[in-house]
Amino acid sequence: AQLNKLAKAAGLLYFGSATDNGELTDTNYVNILKDTDEFGQITPGNAQKWQYIEPSQGSFSYTSGDQIADLAKENGQLLRCHTLVWYSQLPSWVSSGSWTEATLTSVVNTHISNVVGHYKGQCYAWDVVNEALNEDGTYRTNVFYNVLGDSYFALAFKAAAAADPDAKLYYNDYNIESTGAKQAGVVKIVSLVKDAGAKIDGVGMQAHLIVGSTPSQSSQQSAMASYVAAGVTEVAYTELDIRFSSLPSTDSGLQQQAADYASVTKACLAEAACIGITIWDYTDKYSWIPNTFSGQGDALLYDFDLVKKPAWTARHYDFGRD
Ligand code: G3I
Repeated sequence: AQLNKLAKAAGLLYFGSATDNGELTDTNYVNILKDTDEFGQITPGNAQKWQYIEPSQGSFSYTSGDQIADLAKENGQLLRCHTLVWYSQLPSWVSSGSWTEATLTSVVNTHISNVVGHYKGQCYAWDVVNEALNEDGTYRTNVFYNVLGDSYFALAFKAAAAADPDAKLYYNDYNIESTGAKQAGVVKIVSLVKDAGAKIDGVGMQAHLIVGSTPSQSSQQSAMASYVAAGVTEVAYTELDIRFSSLPSTDSGLQQQAADYASVTKACLAEAACIGITIWDYTDKYSWIPNTFSGQGDALLYDFDLVKKPAWTARHYDFGRD
Protein backbone atom coordinates (compact mmCIF):
# COMPACT_ATOMS: atom_id res chain seq x y z
CA ALA A 1 0.00 0.00 0.00
CA GLN A 2 0.97 3.59 -0.50
CA LEU A 3 2.04 6.31 1.88
CA ASN A 4 -1.15 8.27 2.55
CA LYS A 5 -3.23 5.12 2.66
CA LEU A 6 -0.90 3.61 5.23
CA ALA A 7 -0.72 6.85 7.20
CA LYS A 8 -4.49 7.09 7.42
CA ALA A 9 -4.86 3.43 8.31
CA ALA A 10 -2.39 4.06 11.13
CA GLY A 11 -4.45 6.97 12.48
CA LEU A 12 -2.81 10.00 10.90
CA LEU A 13 -4.83 12.60 9.02
CA TYR A 14 -2.50 12.66 6.02
CA PHE A 15 0.86 11.96 4.44
CA GLY A 16 1.68 14.84 2.11
CA SER A 17 4.20 16.58 -0.09
CA ALA A 18 5.21 20.11 -0.96
CA THR A 19 5.14 21.08 -4.60
CA ASP A 20 5.90 24.14 -6.70
CA ASN A 21 4.33 25.77 -9.74
CA GLY A 22 7.25 25.18 -12.08
CA GLU A 23 7.00 21.43 -11.54
CA LEU A 24 3.39 21.13 -12.58
CA THR A 25 4.20 20.82 -16.29
CA ASP A 26 6.07 17.56 -15.55
CA THR A 27 3.34 15.02 -16.28
CA ASN A 28 5.06 12.00 -14.75
CA TYR A 29 5.73 14.04 -11.62
CA VAL A 30 2.14 15.30 -11.38
CA ASN A 31 0.67 11.83 -11.86
CA ILE A 32 2.36 10.67 -8.67
CA LEU A 33 1.67 13.92 -6.80
CA LYS A 34 -2.07 13.72 -7.40
CA ASP A 35 -2.42 10.07 -6.42
CA THR A 36 -4.34 10.41 -3.18
CA ASP A 37 -3.32 6.94 -1.98
CA GLU A 38 0.22 8.33 -2.00
CA PHE A 39 -0.29 11.97 -0.96
CA GLY A 40 -3.37 13.18 0.90
CA GLN A 41 -2.08 16.70 1.39
CA ILE A 42 -0.02 19.27 -0.50
CA THR A 43 1.83 22.45 0.48
CA PRO A 44 2.89 25.19 -1.94
CA GLY A 45 6.66 25.49 -1.58
CA ASN A 46 6.76 29.14 -2.63
CA ALA A 47 3.52 30.41 -4.11
CA GLN A 48 1.93 31.84 -0.98
CA LYS A 49 4.97 33.66 0.35
CA TRP A 50 4.79 37.42 0.87
CA GLN A 51 7.29 38.19 -1.93
CA TYR A 52 5.01 36.59 -4.49
CA ILE A 53 1.59 37.32 -3.04
CA GLU A 54 1.95 41.00 -2.07
CA PRO A 55 4.98 42.10 -4.10
CA SER A 56 4.10 45.75 -3.68
CA GLN A 57 2.04 47.26 -0.94
CA GLY A 58 -1.65 46.55 -1.26
CA SER A 59 -1.27 44.71 -4.57
CA PHE A 60 -2.11 41.02 -4.23
CA SER A 61 -1.30 38.34 -6.75
CA TYR A 62 -2.94 34.97 -6.20
CA THR A 63 -2.39 33.21 -9.53
CA SER A 64 0.41 30.87 -8.44
CA GLY A 65 -1.11 30.14 -5.06
CA ASP A 66 -4.48 29.44 -6.63
CA GLN A 67 -2.93 27.01 -9.09
CA ILE A 68 -1.80 24.81 -6.22
CA ALA A 69 -4.91 25.34 -4.11
CA ASP A 70 -7.03 24.36 -7.12
CA LEU A 71 -4.94 21.27 -7.72
CA ALA A 72 -5.51 20.17 -4.13
CA LYS A 73 -9.22 20.83 -4.47
CA GLU A 74 -9.55 18.90 -7.75
CA ASN A 75 -7.69 15.96 -6.30
CA GLY A 76 -9.45 15.97 -2.94
CA GLN A 77 -6.23 16.67 -1.05
CA LEU A 78 -5.83 18.77 2.07
CA LEU A 79 -3.90 22.01 1.64
CA ARG A 80 -1.38 23.27 4.19
CA CYS A 81 -0.95 26.97 3.53
CA HIS A 82 2.55 28.43 3.85
CA THR A 83 3.41 31.09 5.12
CA LEU A 84 2.28 34.51 6.44
CA VAL A 85 4.96 36.16 8.59
CA TRP A 86 8.55 35.23 7.78
CA TYR A 87 11.75 37.23 7.56
CA SER A 88 12.75 35.54 4.28
CA GLN A 89 11.20 35.91 0.83
CA LEU A 90 9.84 39.16 2.14
CA PRO A 91 9.63 41.97 -0.41
CA SER A 92 12.00 44.85 0.30
CA TRP A 93 9.12 47.27 0.69
CA VAL A 94 8.40 45.39 3.94
CA SER A 95 11.91 44.51 5.11
CA SER A 96 13.38 47.95 4.36
CA GLY A 97 10.39 50.16 5.02
CA SER A 98 10.63 52.79 7.73
CA TRP A 99 7.83 51.71 9.99
CA THR A 100 6.28 52.82 13.21
CA GLU A 101 4.47 50.30 15.42
CA ALA A 102 1.18 51.57 14.04
CA THR A 103 2.11 51.41 10.36
CA LEU A 104 3.73 47.96 10.53
CA THR A 105 0.78 46.65 12.53
CA SER A 106 -1.46 47.84 9.75
CA VAL A 107 0.76 46.23 7.10
CA VAL A 108 0.69 42.86 8.89
CA ASN A 109 -3.06 43.04 9.46
CA THR A 110 -3.71 43.97 5.84
CA HIS A 111 -1.49 41.20 4.49
CA ILE A 112 -3.01 38.51 6.69
CA SER A 113 -6.64 39.55 6.35
CA ASN A 114 -6.34 39.63 2.55
CA VAL A 115 -4.35 36.43 2.08
CA VAL A 116 -6.13 34.33 4.67
CA GLY A 117 -9.44 35.81 3.55
CA HIS A 118 -8.69 34.86 -0.05
CA TYR A 119 -8.00 31.24 0.90
CA LYS A 120 -10.74 31.05 3.54
CA GLY A 121 -12.14 27.55 3.73
CA GLN A 122 -9.36 26.08 1.58
CA CYS A 123 -6.52 25.74 4.07
CA TYR A 124 -6.49 22.89 6.53
CA ALA A 125 -3.76 24.84 8.30
CA TRP A 126 -1.74 28.03 7.99
CA ASP A 127 1.90 28.44 8.98
CA VAL A 128 1.21 31.82 10.56
CA VAL A 129 4.71 32.62 11.78
CA ASN A 130 7.75 30.88 10.31
CA GLU A 131 11.32 30.61 11.64
CA ALA A 132 11.21 33.32 14.30
CA LEU A 133 13.89 31.77 16.50
CA ASN A 134 17.67 31.72 16.59
CA GLU A 135 19.39 28.42 17.37
CA ASP A 136 19.86 29.49 21.02
CA GLY A 137 16.12 30.02 21.43
CA THR A 138 16.21 33.82 21.39
CA TYR A 139 14.04 35.76 18.97
CA ARG A 140 15.50 36.26 15.54
CA THR A 141 16.08 39.86 14.60
CA ASN A 142 13.83 40.85 11.71
CA VAL A 143 11.71 43.82 10.75
CA PHE A 144 8.73 42.50 12.72
CA TYR A 145 10.71 41.97 15.92
CA ASN A 146 12.66 45.19 15.54
CA VAL A 147 9.56 47.33 15.26
CA LEU A 148 6.93 45.42 17.23
CA GLY A 149 8.93 43.31 19.68
CA ASP A 150 7.42 39.99 20.69
CA SER A 151 3.91 41.39 20.28
CA TYR A 152 4.01 40.52 16.57
CA PHE A 153 3.30 36.85 17.32
CA ALA A 154 -0.11 37.46 18.87
CA LEU A 155 -0.86 40.13 16.29
CA ALA A 156 -0.35 37.64 13.47
CA PHE A 157 -2.29 34.80 15.11
CA LYS A 158 -5.21 37.10 15.95
CA ALA A 159 -5.41 38.42 12.40
CA ALA A 160 -5.31 34.91 10.96
CA ALA A 161 -8.01 33.63 13.32
CA ALA A 162 -10.24 36.56 12.43
CA ALA A 163 -9.86 35.95 8.70
CA ASP A 164 -10.45 32.16 8.78
CA PRO A 165 -11.74 30.86 12.10
CA ASP A 166 -11.66 27.24 10.85
CA ALA A 167 -8.03 27.05 9.71
CA LYS A 168 -5.59 25.47 12.15
CA LEU A 169 -2.97 28.05 13.04
CA TYR A 170 0.65 26.93 13.39
CA TYR A 171 4.02 28.19 14.48
CA ASN A 172 6.55 26.51 12.12
CA ASP A 173 10.34 26.16 12.45
CA TYR A 174 13.35 23.89 11.89
CA ASN A 175 15.69 22.26 14.41
CA ILE A 176 12.80 22.00 16.85
CA GLU A 177 12.26 18.26 16.35
CA SER A 178 14.24 17.42 19.48
CA THR A 179 14.68 18.98 22.89
CA GLY A 180 17.06 21.86 23.47
CA ALA A 181 17.26 25.65 23.52
CA LYS A 182 15.32 26.16 20.30
CA GLN A 183 12.54 23.76 21.32
CA ALA A 184 12.29 25.70 24.60
CA GLY A 185 11.93 28.85 22.52
CA VAL A 186 8.93 27.33 20.74
CA VAL A 187 7.32 26.51 24.09
CA LYS A 188 7.80 30.18 25.02
CA ILE A 189 6.14 31.35 21.78
CA VAL A 190 3.13 29.07 22.29
CA SER A 191 2.69 30.41 25.82
CA LEU A 192 3.17 34.01 24.71
CA VAL A 193 0.49 33.72 22.03
CA LYS A 194 -1.96 32.00 24.35
CA ASP A 195 -1.32 34.47 27.19
CA ALA A 196 -2.16 37.27 24.77
CA GLY A 197 -5.56 35.64 24.23
CA ALA A 198 -4.86 34.52 20.67
CA LYS A 199 -5.54 31.11 19.15
CA ILE A 200 -2.64 28.84 18.25
CA ASP A 201 -3.50 25.26 17.31
CA GLY A 202 -0.26 23.65 16.27
CA VAL A 203 3.49 23.50 16.08
CA GLY A 204 5.01 22.54 12.75
CA MET A 205 8.37 20.83 12.90
CA GLN A 206 9.99 21.35 9.52
CA ALA A 207 12.45 18.48 10.04
CA HIS A 208 15.17 19.27 7.53
CA LEU A 209 17.33 16.45 8.85
CA ILE A 210 20.65 14.77 8.00
CA VAL A 211 21.21 11.07 7.35
CA GLY A 212 22.80 9.50 10.43
CA SER A 213 22.14 12.54 12.64
CA THR A 214 18.37 12.36 12.87
CA PRO A 215 17.31 12.98 16.50
CA SER A 216 16.35 9.92 18.51
CA GLN A 217 12.74 8.90 18.54
CA SER A 218 12.52 9.60 22.28
CA SER A 219 13.89 13.12 21.90
CA GLN A 220 11.41 13.77 19.09
CA GLN A 221 8.59 12.52 21.32
CA SER A 222 9.75 14.73 24.22
CA ALA A 223 9.77 17.78 21.95
CA MET A 224 6.24 17.05 20.71
CA ALA A 225 5.02 16.42 24.26
CA SER A 226 6.43 19.79 25.34
CA TYR A 227 4.41 21.59 22.65
CA VAL A 228 1.24 19.79 23.67
CA ALA A 229 1.93 20.62 27.32
CA ALA A 230 2.33 24.29 26.33
CA GLY A 231 -1.20 24.21 24.92
CA VAL A 232 -1.35 23.27 21.25
CA THR A 233 -3.73 20.50 20.25
CA GLU A 234 -1.70 19.23 17.34
CA VAL A 235 1.80 18.94 15.95
CA ALA A 236 2.99 17.89 12.50
CA TYR A 237 6.14 17.25 10.52
CA THR A 238 5.76 19.92 7.86
CA GLU A 239 8.85 19.93 5.61
CA LEU A 240 10.53 16.59 6.18
CA ASP A 241 13.62 15.69 4.20
CA ILE A 242 16.72 13.78 5.30
CA ARG A 243 19.76 14.72 3.27
CA PHE A 244 23.17 13.23 2.69
CA SER A 245 25.83 15.71 3.75
CA SER A 246 28.11 14.24 1.11
CA LEU A 247 27.34 12.56 -2.18
CA PRO A 248 27.16 10.17 -3.88
CA SER A 249 25.08 8.15 -1.45
CA THR A 250 26.03 4.53 -0.76
CA ASP A 251 23.82 1.48 -0.29
CA SER A 252 24.45 1.52 3.44
CA GLY A 253 23.73 5.25 3.47
CA LEU A 254 20.38 4.63 1.82
CA GLN A 255 19.60 2.01 4.49
CA GLN A 256 20.49 4.56 7.19
CA GLN A 257 18.24 7.11 5.48
CA ALA A 258 15.43 4.54 5.52
CA ALA A 259 15.96 4.00 9.25
CA ASP A 260 15.95 7.77 9.83
CA TYR A 261 12.65 8.20 7.95
CA ALA A 262 11.24 5.30 9.95
CA SER A 263 12.32 6.94 13.21
CA VAL A 264 10.41 10.12 12.35
CA THR A 265 7.34 8.10 11.36
CA LYS A 266 7.46 6.09 14.57
CA ALA A 267 7.85 9.22 16.68
CA CYS A 268 4.79 10.78 15.04
CA LEU A 269 2.73 7.62 15.48
CA ALA A 270 3.72 7.41 19.13
CA GLU A 271 2.41 10.94 19.86
CA ALA A 272 -1.37 11.16 19.68
CA ALA A 273 -1.25 14.87 18.80
CA CYS A 274 0.93 14.27 15.73
CA ILE A 275 -1.55 14.52 12.90
CA GLY A 276 0.53 14.22 9.75
CA ILE A 277 3.80 14.17 7.89
CA THR A 278 4.66 16.33 4.87
CA ILE A 279 7.84 15.82 2.87
CA TRP A 280 9.40 18.90 1.24
CA ASP A 281 8.63 17.67 -2.25
CA TYR A 282 8.79 13.97 -2.89
CA THR A 283 11.58 13.59 -5.46
CA ASP A 284 15.28 14.48 -5.42
CA LYS A 285 14.62 16.04 -8.83
CA TYR A 286 12.91 19.00 -7.21
CA SER A 287 14.58 19.29 -3.83
CA TRP A 288 15.69 22.73 -2.58
CA ILE A 289 18.80 21.26 -0.97
CA PRO A 290 21.45 21.24 -3.74
CA ASN A 291 20.77 24.95 -4.35
CA THR A 292 21.34 25.80 -0.71
CA PHE A 293 23.87 23.20 0.47
CA SER A 294 26.28 22.61 -2.34
CA GLY A 295 27.29 18.95 -2.67
CA GLN A 296 24.50 17.70 -0.41
CA GLY A 297 21.12 16.17 -1.21
CA ASP A 298 19.32 12.95 -2.20
CA ALA A 299 17.03 13.74 0.73
CA LEU A 300 13.67 12.48 -0.47
CA LEU A 301 11.72 9.26 -0.98
CA TYR A 302 11.92 9.15 -4.79
CA ASP A 303 15.11 9.61 -6.79
CA PHE A 304 15.77 11.93 -9.75
CA ASP A 305 14.04 9.49 -12.12
CA LEU A 306 10.97 9.22 -9.86
CA VAL A 307 11.99 5.74 -8.72
CA LYS A 308 11.18 4.82 -5.11
CA LYS A 309 14.17 4.63 -2.79
CA PRO A 310 14.74 2.31 0.20
CA ALA A 311 13.33 5.00 2.49
CA TRP A 312 9.98 4.73 0.67
CA THR A 313 9.84 0.98 1.20
CA ALA A 314 10.94 1.23 4.82
CA ARG A 315 7.95 3.35 5.70
CA HIS A 316 5.70 0.36 5.15
CA TYR A 317 7.13 -1.52 8.07
CA ASP A 318 6.67 1.29 10.48
CA PHE A 319 3.14 2.51 10.10
CA GLY A 320 0.85 1.45 12.91
CA ARG A 321 -0.13 3.71 15.79
CA ASP A 322 0.50 2.14 19.20
O1 G3I B 1 11.09 32.94 -8.79
C1 G3I B 1 12.45 33.01 -9.19
C2 G3I B 1 12.58 32.92 -10.68
O2 G3I B 1 11.95 34.04 -11.24
C3 G3I B 1 14.06 32.88 -11.03
O3 G3I B 1 14.19 32.70 -12.41
C4 G3I B 1 14.77 31.73 -10.32
C5 G3I B 1 16.25 31.70 -10.61
O4 G3I B 1 16.98 31.18 -9.53
O5 G3I B 1 14.58 31.89 -8.94
C6 G3I B 1 13.21 31.85 -8.55
O6 G3I B 1 13.12 31.98 -7.17
C7 G3I B 1 13.54 30.85 -6.39
C8 G3I B 1 12.33 30.33 -5.63
O7 G3I B 1 12.73 29.30 -4.75
C9 G3I B 1 11.25 29.77 -6.57
O8 G3I B 1 11.74 28.71 -7.31
C10 G3I B 1 14.59 31.34 -5.43
O9 G3I B 1 15.76 31.69 -6.13
C11 G3I B 1 14.90 30.25 -4.41
O10 G3I B 1 15.76 30.78 -3.42
C12 G3I B 1 13.64 29.76 -3.76
O11 G3I B 1 13.97 28.71 -2.87
C13 G3I B 1 12.98 28.35 -1.95
C14 G3I B 1 13.44 28.62 -0.52
O12 G3I B 1 12.44 28.21 0.39
C15 G3I B 1 13.72 30.10 -0.30
O13 G3I B 1 13.84 30.41 1.05
C16 G3I B 1 12.71 26.87 -2.11
O14 G3I B 1 12.16 26.61 -3.39
C17 G3I B 1 11.73 26.41 -1.02
O15 G3I B 1 11.62 25.01 -1.08
C18 G3I B 1 12.27 26.82 0.34
O16 G3I B 1 11.35 26.41 1.32
C19 G3I B 1 11.70 26.72 2.68
C20 G3I B 1 10.41 26.92 3.44
O17 G3I B 1 9.60 27.89 2.82
C21 G3I B 1 10.67 27.30 4.90
N1 G3I B 1 11.56 26.35 5.52
C22 G3I B 1 12.80 26.06 4.82
C23 G3I B 1 12.50 25.62 3.38
C24 G3I B 1 13.77 25.23 2.66
O18 G3I B 1 14.60 26.35 2.49
